Amino acid sequence: MPSHTFKLNGKMVSVEVADDVRLLWVLRDMLGVTGPKYGCGLNVCKACTSHINGKAFNPCSVPVSKIKPTDEVTTIEGLPATVGKDLHPMQEAWLDLDVVQCGYCQPGQIMAAVAKVRQAKAAGREIVDADLDEIRNICRCGTYSRIREAIKAGAKNM
Ligand code: FES
Ligand code: FES
Repeated sequence: MPSHTFKLNGKMVSVEVADDVRLLWVLRDMLGVTGPKYGCGLNVCKACTSHINGKAFNPCSVPVSKIKPTDEVTTIEGLPATVGKDLHPMQEAWLDLDVVQCGYCQPGQIMAAVAKVRQAKAAGREIVDADLDEIRNICRCGTYSRIREAIKAGAKNM
């Protein structure tokens, strides 16, 4: 079985698994990292949204063989450590605004939000409604208006 090595939430990990197994299953079933949720497995629902090298991606659609040893994968579990705190400012905003309903989509929503705010800040500007419109993460509980408020609030502290 081929071996695959990459950095996950700040630590190097190695797994022995077939090349075509998608990363979401490696994270959840082999490494016990269950923050990224399985919704569709087709890069549509975005419930599995995590970061690769600081940018949003969907591990359900990436074969583990595509992840390089120099790649850094961050899931919701590793997000607070990226700012050296117990909670990332976006998570604080989520709690302050009581965003969550059933919760299933929420790790992906937060990871998508953080990546989108980083993208805006890297371009030297604040996040605007048009950026929020580009986030395609599905919430079957319909918490969209609270999500948008929380992203704006969290962005102020990023
Ligand atoms: S489970 Fe990854 S996008 Fe739906
Ligand atoms: S909070 Fe239930 S799916 Fe989003």
